[in-house]
Amino acid sequence: MLRQQKNALALVLLSISLTFAVQAQEVTDDTLKNAANSGEEWLTYGRDYFESRFSPLNQIDTSNVSQLGVAWTFDTDSFRGLEATPLIHNGIMYATRPWSSVFAIDARTGEKLWDFDPQVDRSIGWKACCDVVNRGVALYEDKIYVGTIDGRLIALDANTGAVVWDILTVDPERPYTITGAPRIADGKVIIGNGGAELGSRGYVTAYDAETGTEAWRFWVVPGNPAEGFENPDVEFAATTWSGNWWEVGGGGNSWDSIIYDPEARLVYIGTGNGSPWSHELRSNGEGDNLYLSSIVALNVDDGRVKWHYQTTPADNWDYTAVQPLMLADIPFDGVLRKVIMQAPKNGFFYVLDRITGDLISADPYAEVTWASGIDLESGRPMETPQARYDNAISFVMPGPGGAHNWHPMSFNPVTGLIYLPTNQGSSFPYSIQQGFVHKPGTWNIGVTMGTMAGVPVRPEADYAGGTGPETRSPGALLAWDPVAREPRWVIDYPFSINGGTLTTAGNLVFQGGGDGFLRAYTADKGDLLWQIDLGVGIMAPPVTYELDGKQYLAVLVGWGGSAGLIGPSETGEYKPEGRMWTFVLDGDTNIVPVTGQPLPELTRIEFNDDPAALAHGEDIYGKRCMVCHGAGAASGGALADLRYAAPATYDIFHNIVRQGAYTGVGMPNLGAFVTEEDADAVKNWLLSLRADLMNP
Ligand code: HEC
Repeated sequence: MLRQQKNALALVLLSISLTFAVQAQEVTDDTLKNAANSGEEWLTYGRDYFESRFSPLNQIDTSNVSQLGVAWTFDTDSFRGLEATPLIHNGIMYATRPWSSVFAIDARTGEKLWDFDPQVDRSIGWKACCDVVNRGVALYEDKIYVGTIDGRLIALDANTGAVVWDILTVDPERPYTITGAPRIADGKVIIGNGGAELGSRGYVTAYDAETGTEAWRFWVVPGNPAEGFENPDVEFAATTWSGNWWEVGGGGNSWDSIIYDPEARLVYIGTGNGSPWSHELRSNGEGDNLYLSSIVALNVDDGRVKWHYQTTPADNWDYTAVQPLMLADIPFDGVLRKVIMQAPKNGFFYVLDRITGDLISADPYAEVTWASGIDLESGRPMETPQARYDNAISFVMPGPGGAHNWHPMSFNPVTGLIYLPTNQGSSFPYSIQQGFVHKPGTWNIGVTMGTMAGVPVRPEADYAGGTGPETRSPGALLAWDPVAREPRWVIDYPFSINGGTLTTAGNLVFQGGGDGFLRAYTADKGDLLWQIDLGVGIMAPPVTYELDGKQYLAVLVGWGGSAGLIGPSETGEYKPEGRMWTFVLDGDTNIVPVTGQPLPELTRIEFNDDPAALAHGEDIYGKRCMVCHGAGAASGGALADLRYAAPATYDIFHNIVRQGAYTGVGMPNLGAFVTEEDADAVKNWLLSLRADLMNP
């Protein structure tokens, strides 16, 4: 009897301690609140609720960073863009890859623990404006959350990868996608979506983390007033619109930035550009079009608007304000202010009081020609005459890629600096697409793509104003001082797209480059201390964590995204496999960069060199193919370079382009948009480029 009781007691104790062990490992609201304090793990997208991407770890510092070597690598078995921030918890690393699949690996060894493929239908890849990328998962209690390119939000068991719940957050008939990482706020999982280029109405939804039940939805833009408004916030927004915007969708899709202040109990979201891009076509050129291109503070309990600040009223240029938001408590003029900061696409760096929404400062961080500044009293931009293009081409900076995109910035409280990856492209030729009609299933931006032969160009005398530095190189890393309102140091890169940043208490800043180099700079001065060639362009931000007393540095390397599809690849690697790289101080310093696949050999295929036929092919290509296969058909390395396609592929060109023969690998069926004659013209033009490659 006694023995049995003892055994029973032991069992109870064992189960208590087991339960305790499991509970102690769970990520609770408190763990998330305190995430900034310990450097061991990386629990949320931006590392802590402020999304500062600052780690207190300092084992790797300025004195030894040059000794970093490889701890382990993990090949992702994917060939398109890698943008994810890995999370690290309980010695496990969780990250995502193209087509929204999730993998869990041992953070000490890189050994795969589980892999989850949400089985996204590859034929819907066309809905993703900017590659079928994914920026990562959220972690809460015992679950992992991922948003998928087909608009689902899925909760997985963190230990096994088994599906706990799987819900559809979008209307599958509309071109919605999810690429952003979900965020956790007060027991809810919050997720937005993309789709403004194709024509959709943006929103952000909060779901109960345990059950997946919808808690609230914030509609970024109003729908058709005849159908009634969801709440007074939307009704108010509708007073700033004109015309039949809902037919295309209005846009505003919040595809990345969501940030939570647990003390203020406010969820802040950055909202997207208008759909279509042209304000004239979208809203008869009238009204500010709330809540496009804005920072909006929402009450975490009901999703109602506490305040909003519109960075680009009446957006006309694809100026999303979906770029990463960051919170900080910083003294301004001797007073500690709780601020929210953002460097949206439009080229200005904003600092706002995050409790009241008051604008503190807004300064150009890149060359800007659409506005000469932001009036701090009214909070409104002072537009230049060339900003509003009509029926003539107007060259404006930044272009639709923005002066900063999704690539995360980081903030080091020791230096007081924000490490901001920027890209200063050339001016973009904006002009309204004549005879624009909304066509579901394709891009609906209302701005001319393809050749612009015949479109008048605005006379030079019209150009005036603008602000910001004119001499910066295509890409730059800025150490932005939010108090002095200017960069303290700048690293210029001869290429535009570079990765997000990480900063540490070791006085370091880490950043990957579009040229495939991972670099470390001193955080205070920007001195380059270490750089290694990983072979393939880097977009994702590095992270750091500590296990068994060892500090690790990890980064995903894989080229793609909108810039990777449309533009060239700096490293020239063709279809390279993605890889997770991790580094430690006693690692292997014999680093072998990744290489891609050899370009297929070229054989001659006859074509028609009639200039009108070639021009027609080039025009259709620019309108229907360029966003994926690259400007000038020079693939950025992530997708097929059509100039090099095998003769047998050219034999079935029509089946591929117009009948969906390759939808299983992500090539859309364009039968509804490309006539047989158009497809022939594109094929002919591609073959002429192929001939040029053979006789340079
Ligand atoms: C939404 C992105 C997207 C668009 C738009 C697109 N493609 Fe593709 N295409 C793909 C993907 C993905 C593949 C699969 C091959 C790969 O992954 O490289 C592909 C493959 C192909 C192939 C086969 C290439 C080979 O060597 O196997 C051809 C030919 C092709 N596309 C032609 C076109 C043409 C012509 C257009 C415009 C009329 C077009 N594509 C528009 C994404 C796209």
